[in-house]
Amino acid sequence: MTADVEIEEHLVPGDIAAQMRGDVLAGLGATPKWLPPKWFYDDAGSALFEEITRLPEYYPTRAEREILTARAPAIAAAGDAKTLVELGSGSSEKTLLLLDALRAHGSLARFVPLDVSGGALREAATRIAGRYPGLEVHGIVGDFTRHLQHLPMGPGRLIAFLGGTIGNLDPGERAAFLSSVRAVLEPGEALLLGADLVKDPATLVAAYDDATGVTAEFNRNVLRVLNHRLGADFDPAAFDHVAVWDAEREWIEMRLRSRYAQDVAIPGVGLTVSFAKDEDLRTEISAKFRREGLTGELAAAGFTVGRWWTDAAGRFALALALAD
Ligand code: SAH
Ligand code: AVI
Repeated sequence: MTADVEIEEHLVPGDIAAQMRGDVLAGLGATPKWLPPKWFYDDAGSALFEEITRLPEYYPTRAEREILTARAPAIAAAGDAKTLVELGSGSSEKTLLLLDALRAHGSLARFVPLDVSGGALREAATRIAGRYPGLEVHGIVGDFTRHLQHLPMGPGRLIAFLGGTIGNLDPGERAAFLSSVRAVLEPGEALLLGADLVKDPATLVAAYDDATGVTAEFNRNVLRVLNHRLGADFDPAAFDHVAVWDAEREWIEMRLRSRYAQDVAIPGVGLTVSFAKDEDLRTEISAKFRREGLTGELAAAGFTVGRWWTDAAGRFALALALAD
């Protein structure tokens, strides 16, 4: 039996370059400088993220897997999902736990992973189609902040957004994103949201500044992506990796700190960008949540949190939120 897999592309190279040019002009023209985290994820960036998930310091993946292992049958029983959508799906490795439970429950007919990282998406979609005969796998190469209108129609959809990727959006982006997810759902359909929780700063900083330097290479990868896509001449080794806990805003900030004063040409946007010695470029925020705060944000977007589970150590949460 041939695997039932189809991939829909909403991010062609010209579109990616146009989006990236807009982000580079906005972010590298600002003070302080910033870039959106979605540009970490070319093939090399996706592989580096997978390496991060196996680091001893990076607890979120293991904590979320612990919750899914314990709760996937309850998640499957809570609805009769016919379609599982996964946003920012990456390798979909933990998703196998959900797919197994939904298949055992008997309702699931289709899996729809969506990711900006085309290589990672294709690999995961093909692997999953091979593993679950009869499951229709419909991958979407796209941006979850722009392409939700391409999701298949309901009813019977469960949208999973795992890994704590919600924390990589700033509060305004988060509100817009949750509202846009709600807008594509029908009442009674559900969002399964993974969120990392506020905890002691030492644990948090170690998770984003590991001893072997994998996270530092992941951080620097955004410079390699700009070199490749926009012909920029960043020297990644000229930037130090920095991870800071912002206690007021309750988020980790990843930054790249220029080791010396330097000018970087970015021909794709017709710019030369100057960095002072020790000047920071913010590359990611990773917000950490509290139950009341996230439940309130979901309510404001039109969701009611039906179930809230954490791992035994209380590091990470999975919220099952129903569209009102
Ligand atoms: N869900 C997986 C992967 C998390 S890494 C897990 O829990 O382990 C974040 C994933 O989101 C990456 O695969 C990245 O390519 C994807 N991503 C980041 N920003 C995105 C965006 N705006 N639209 C779609 N995918 C995005
Ligand atoms: C994908 N996202 C949830 C990761 C995080 O923890 O914010 C990305 C990451 N950045 C550094 N390490 C992992």
